[in-house]
Amino acid sequence: MTGFEMRDGVLHSDGVSLEEIARAVGTPAFVYSADLMTKRYRTLESALEGLDVEICYAMKANSNQAVLRHFVSMGAGLDVVSEGELSRALAAGVDPKKVVFAGVGKTPREIEAGLAAGIRQFNVESPSELAMIDEIARARGVAAPVSIRINPDVDAKTHAKITTGTKENKFGIDIDLAPGVFRDAAARAGIQVVGVATHIGSQILDLSSFRHAYSRLADLVRALENEGIAIAEVDLGGGVGIDYEADSDPDFHLYADIVRETVGGLGKPMVVEPGRSMVGDAGVLLTHVVHVKRGVAKTFAIVDGAMNDLIRPTLYEAYHDVVPVRLDAADQETVTVDIVGPVCESGDYLAQGRAMPVPQSGDLLAVKSAGAYGAVMASVYNSRPQAAEVLTHDGTFDVVRPRDRIEQLIERDRVPGWLQAS
Ligand code: LLP
Repeated sequence: MTGFEMRDGVLHSDGVSLEEIARAVGTPAFVYSADLMTKRYRTLESALEGLDVEICYAMKANSNQAVLRHFVSMGAGLDVVSEGELSRALAAGVDPKKVVFAGVGKTPREIEAGLAAGIRQFNVESPSELAMIDEIARARGVAAPVSIRINPDVDAKTHAKITTGTKENKFGIDIDLAPGVFRDAAARAGIQVVGVATHIGSQILDLSSFRHAYSRLADLVRALENEGIAIAEVDLGGGVGIDYEADSDPDFHLYADIVRETVGGLGKPMVVEPGRSMVGDAGVLLTHVVHVKRGVAKTFAIVDGAMNDLIRPTLYEAYHDVVPVRLDAADQETVTVDIVGPVCESGDYLAQGRAMPVPQSGDLLAVKSAGAYGAVMASVYNSRPQAAEVLTHDGTFDVVRPRDRIEQLIERDRVPGWLQAS
């Protein structure tokens, strides 16, 4: 069994009952299917067969060490955006030559760390960053490998907060300004230009946006080469969306066809940086119903998971399917409910207006497609300890991050001497 499936009326992950996991680990807890991650990674890999592509998993989607090790063991590189991510990546044993360092605000310290690690490339997002990398690399007597991230001004038709490739966004260098920046880069002793990069946004379902962006990128590469600026490699970013409403796989074959059609003909090595499509569907957030409250206007299922565990519904109005882990044939009656957490904010909901079997206190629910941008975006708001994380594989499960203890939250604070009792 790969991924999430019902078995004898109970939802399982890689053959392990989610009821069993909830009993052992408590809730809220994220459960990840390693086997579904494998399937997603291998499907993308085979769709891209015949092209020279390095898959650098965008670890911002889920940076648990176990998840990273799993991708690294399958041969993936990693896309990192901070010193913290770089450290986690190296701790997971990734080959630094497969690490791409993205992000608009790399600090001198982060650039130093990337150079010290010997990463594959920095994706540079501004002339100011280019100058900073040049200076730091020259001081070390090296030339930093750099790709210039282009903003192609293409609308990815996704949520405004995760659109990155239009000229209103802070990301990348406007495509019209790019040739000047490439010329500048070529003249710098501390910079070794390796290529051109782009990333137009996330949760992209209309794949034609990629066709548009990658075509513009291919045109730019040809124009630069005509000018005598050699481009060794093309980084296509991430962004392939997933189906939050049904169990279906992303269309990696269509995506790969678009890559072939647009940039394939350049005959250059490529990088892709998929995050969500590798791990999103491979995770659920397990949560228990604590109370059911029937109001005048609404019925609320108040659960022990909350916006601090999974912020996507309130931050992006994102839809996550929520299903009972146990479905009894007798439970035919449904009711429309809001599934809300205990946090003191009206924005604290996981789902609104859902028809589901009448919930009871003690019911176990699974919030689906929570493997990407779930645990990594969690906070401890309301002093709620961060949820446990569990990885399943071939009928087994392991806790890959124990639930925070409340004492850990308190221990992190420091009380100044003048406030301490004498
Ligand atoms: N490469 C770059 C440069 C990125 O900025 C991102 C995501 C990716 C790759 C991976 O994109 P993906 O394949 O996962 O779409 N927190 C938001 C998503 C933010 C995405 C940020 N960048 C959410 O929960 O929807």
